[in-house]
This record gives sequence, structure tokens and C-alpha cells, in this order.
Amino acid sequence: MITVTLVSPATGTERTIEAQPGQSLMQAAIAANAPGIEGDCGGLLTCATCHVYVREPWLAHLPPPVADEDSMLDFVAAERRPNSRLSCQIALTPELDGLTVELPASQY
Ligand code: FES
Repeated sequence: MITVTLVSPATGTERTIEAQPGQSLMQAAIAANAPGIEGDCGGLLTCATCHVYVREPWLAHLPPPVADEDSMLDFVAAERRPNSRLSCQIALTPELDGLTVELPASQY
């Protein structure tokens, strides 16, 4: 079991969810009914509604975004930052247990 914490600066809330290895962060958040990650395209890299800001030290544990993810990050609704990622492209592994991300104020 992998735990991931979703922090929402906009609402001042924080929620920890549990995920299975192999799930994407987007899939885990949807399965847990966690608000703030929409994932409209189901992980096909066509919607950019699964945007998150990855907190350190976790960003350094992720592989860099592939070209398609990098391109889609230009279409996120909230500000794109250096630690912006699309959560459908974050494959959860046991090494990511404890991952903490911030949710943007909006996905649309
Ligand atoms: S779920 Fe659509 S780009 Fe991630």
C-alpha cells in the first residue's frame, strides 16, 4: 500500500489516500473520491485536468515528463510551475510511499 497526501492550499485541507502499486496518482485520487483531480480524459494525456504540484523532495524521485506530458502542461488551467505534473502520468511505486502533492485552485 502506498500513501499519498493531497494538499489543497485553496481550501486549507489535506487528505491522505491509499493507492496500489501500478496505479497512477490520478487513478488513485479518483478511486478515493478525492476532490481536486478531475482526470476527464481517463489518462490519455488530452485534458490536463489532473494537474498537481509535486512537493519536494518527491519531485526528484519522479522521472522527467515525457514530451507529450510537457506539451499538455502548457494547457493546465492554473499557473504552470516548475513542479507541475499531470497526475495521470505519475505511476505509483512503493518508492513513492509518502508522496505529497498540492492541488491547483482549479482544473478548468
Ligand atoms: S487525465 Fe487527462 S491529461 Fe491526465
